[in-house]
Amino acid sequence: MNAGASAAAAPPVVSLRGIVTRFGRNVVHDGLDLDVGAGEIVALVGGSGSGKTTLLRHIIGLTRPAAGELRLFGEPLRAGSVHDRVARQRRFGVLFQQGALFSAFSVGDNIAFPLKELGVASRDEIRDLVALKLAMVEMEPEHALLMPAELSGGMVKRAALARALALEPELLLLDEPTAGLDPDRSAAFVRLILSLRRELGLTVVLVTHDLDTLAAMASKVAVLADRRILSYATLEETLKVDHPFIERFFHGEHGRRALARAGRGD
Ligand SMILES: Nc1ncnc2c1ncn2[C@@H]1O[C@H](COP(=O)(O)OP(=O)(O)OP(=O)(O)O)[C@@H](O)[C@H]1O
Ligand SMILES: [Mg+2]
Repeated sequence: MNAGASAAAAPPVVSLRGIVTRFGRNVVHDGLDLDVGAGEIVALVGGSGSGKTTLLRHIIGLTRPAAGELRLFGEPLRAGSVHDRVARQRRFGVLFQQGALFSAFSVGDNIAFPLKELGVASRDEIRDLVALKLAMVEMEPEHALLMPAELSGGMVKRAALARALALEPELLLLDEPTAGLDPDRSAAFVRLILSLRRELGLTVVLVTHDLDTLAAMASKVAVLADRRILSYATLEETLKVDHPFIERFFHGEHGRRALARAGRGD
């Protein structure tokens, strides 16, 4: 095989095939497929309880689907030795929907946690990296000393994003990253993610109900409905799909206004 052919065959960063998830009788995913290519910013949308958070938990290996195949960076999620898995973990960062920070650790120790856990940096390097990551999310170095309970909701989100960025991941998984942020902070968040994608070639999967954020940054929209990815396309193409969820989510009063603001409505 020549170099060109192998480059063209670069595997998706995330690949899900035939995912089935059940909690007792509750079938959440039933034959779900999704491929996320390098450099994409995929917005995963779906009704409350449709299984978005659960899907992110599968992708990072926190939970296991009842059936299906899951690949990260072209490799089966659980392939290889412990060492291989730890190496794979270093390649992604996660921002959870809830409980974003360890409450018993300061902000600085929270951000340092993945760095310390993986033993990738010295103490001085860690201190510098913590300050750098705080600056990225527009927080001050002295915020490193605060405890999570001393932060506002928006600051918790930003500190959690700083932690997700600590290892300079190739893949970022974000669950409602802008929920509870004011419009200025949400816009700053969008700018940050877009600049990281430009500079680091970051791939992002984000769950969001925030249409302003979605319209500003998503390269593709994955709609989780009827227990699978019902549609996976650009926002413009997604808007043409005839489905009750898409109708409610994008074409309601609120949705139309958000899309108009972004200049992407119909
Ligand atoms: N650990 C669990 N045990 C039992 N049921 C669960 C568990 N985790 C999730 N579920 C169920 O799976 C379904 C999907 O939940 P999930 O949290 O993935 O939804 P979601 O799409 O993230 O919703 P939201 O938009 O409200 O955050 C729900 O019906 C939920 O009750
Ligand atoms: Mg959720």
